[in-house]
Amino acid sequence: MSNEIQSVLTESRVFQPFSNLVEGAAISGMPAYQALCERAEHDPDGFWKDLANDNLVWNTPFTQVLDETNPPFYRWFADGELNVSANCLDKHLGTPTADKTAIIFEADDGSVTRVTYKELHAKVCQLANGLTSLGYSAGDRAIIYLPMSIEAVVAMQACARLGIIHSVVFGGFSSKSLHERTVDVGASLVITADAQMRGGKTLALKPAVDEALSLGGCEAVRNVIVYNRANSKVDWVEGRDRWLHDVCLNQPGTCEPVAVNAEHPLFILYTSGSTGKPKGVQHSSAGYLLWALMTIKWTFDAKPTDVFWCTADVGWVTGHTYITYGPLAAGLTQVIFEGVPTYPDAGRFWKMIQDHKVTIFYTAPTAIRSLTKAAETTPQIHPRQYNLDTLRIIGSVGEPINPEAWMWYYTNVGRERCPVIDTWWQTETGGHMITPLPGATPLKPGSCSLPLPGITAAIVDEVGEDVPHGKGGFLVVKRPWPAMIRTIWGDPERFKTSYFPAELKGYYLAGDGAQRDDDAYFWIMGRIDDVLNVSGHRLGTMEVESALVAHPLVAEAAVVGRPDATTGEAIVAFVVLNQSLPDDEQGRKIATDLRNWVAHEIGPIAKPKEIRFGENLPKTRSGKIMRRLLRVVAQGQEVTQDVSTLENPAILDQLSQSF
Ligand code: WTA
Repeated sequence: MSNEIQSVLTESRVFQPFSNLVEGAAISGMPAYQALCERAEHDPDGFWKDLANDNLVWNTPFTQVLDETNPPFYRWFADGELNVSANCLDKHLGTPTADKTAIIFEADDGSVTRVTYKELHAKVCQLANGLTSLGYSAGDRAIIYLPMSIEAVVAMQACARLGIIHSVVFGGFSSKSLHERTVDVGASLVITADAQMRGGKTLALKPAVDEALSLGGCEAVRNVIVYNRANSKVDWVEGRDRWLHDVCLNQPGTCEPVAVNAEHPLFILYTSGSTGKPKGVQHSSAGYLLWALMTIKWTFDAKPTDVFWCTADVGWVTGHTYITYGPLAAGLTQVIFEGVPTYPDAGRFWKMIQDHKVTIFYTAPTAIRSLTKAAETTPQIHPRQYNLDTLRIIGSVGEPINPEAWMWYYTNVGRERCPVIDTWWQTETGGHMITPLPGATPLKPGSCSLPLPGITAAIVDEVGEDVPHGKGGFLVVKRPWPAMIRTIWGDPERFKTSYFPAELKGYYLAGDGAQRDDDAYFWIMGRIDDVLNVSGHRLGTMEVESALVAHPLVAEAAVVGRPDATTGEAIVAFVVLNQSLPDDEQGRKIATDLRNWVAHEIGPIAKPKEIRFGENLPKTRSGKIMRRLLRVVAQGQEVTQDVSTLENPAILDQLSQSF
């Protein structure tokens, strides 16, 4: 067991909920939480039925709650019909929320744009009308490759309004990744921007789309709609490319939302698994939206007066659920930020909380750790220098938050009066699964605490048997829930085997290892598969390996993660070249080339932090790469394990030098 895990497990501080947050909370006090859990357990149909009826606006009411005739292909509210965009926007028209600010957008350069719900509705309708005039309709697939912007939300909502299935690709992914997703999803439309502005720089986006579409297999793409963000010069394909403002020009500001079946796919979002090919996680309309809204209400105890800020990018699931869908369905005012936390300085987040009077702040442990470092070295940008009095809840997502980072966040940002809401969930779960509730759950730094009502999370062994508290095992969810992944786009077989392995009694396998303490609190230990979590971004080791071996100089590569104080995990690549071992200078040069190559193949987030060259990789006599050993070597530790099964033990020394 690593020291990190050991220190988490001996953590014993407990923070009781603050009385001002208990009072009037959506779930107020542990007895209220327990009552909901019991209702969900004893009458799941009634529990979910009431939530779906009370919280969603239906065009056609559903009569059946859960259809489990064909597990694991569960269907929820399956004969009901609704429109997601109408549930996020139209619902507020004619209420006081219509004139409320929906989005406060702060650009990289600090300029601020606000839109009300009414204005956002009109923008979404104009684009939806524009898309209709281009011949798009329900069931078509659109790739969205946009920077953080009001336009990104408008694009997603416009698709939802027409039943077009969107697949957002993070702006940091390369043209190769974009190509792969465009082909896999069978897109007929791409919505992008000329460029994005981050950290004072203008970074081109459109060229990546042009390159991706030139690679072949994307012939179905009829239109590329381009948002003019930066007035950059762009290449233009006549007949295919159109400016976003032209598509919306003269379009009416109303558009009838298309009622779709509850199970109609709202979006497909690619995420990394343990093989080289990213998986297109398919989400439903009704079940997904229900959970986006319920978790905003429960986990963040959102009130109409709140100013909510989730710092994620819409390219990840967190941005889908807690920017585009949840906050709008709840009628909140939210902040959307274009830039990076360190520009113009590392006090940017704190200044923005102060300026926009943010009340609920939701970010990733990586950001907290890097801002801690910055604040400790540059006192002027320490959160203490800012007025953060409006904050009432501070959240964390994407990776385990270590108790040190938790305490720093709690003390310096939350000023010991805001609960740290450590939310465990995944692209596949659609929304929060295990999380404290601000008005109920006592907090323990480093634990995501207890499952939400209706979520049957458990820890089991290899045959699906519950393990006793205090013992590690696989994190599973025993019963289906409305926001769960429906399938892997185009690969139902992989969906079954990845998430519902035969030996686990039909439970949903999350892919994380975890254990519970004596109070039944969950402690997440990290992935049990070959998935890395670098700065809260999910990456498969195989993806990075495939990128490396595609380089002409590389014969073989193995990639592992090692703990990193800032990014959570860092990528270490072990590489065998097609030539003799390089000397220092040559090694440095090749390492730089390989990093740039990986950035081009996947995206800069996948660049290995360290590259190590060897004449071979440690293998068993049967030729299997011993990753267990490579993880030890990557951490700079002495290999103490028995290496007698290794074919070539001497190789371990060679692999200790990093570039
Ligand atoms: C990890 C992001 C510990 C976990 C929403 C999971 C966490 C993967 C937490 C999903 C947390 C996410 N504590 N680990 N609070 N939240 N993870 O799909 O390993 O990008 O399986 O979804 O991130 O990452 P994904």
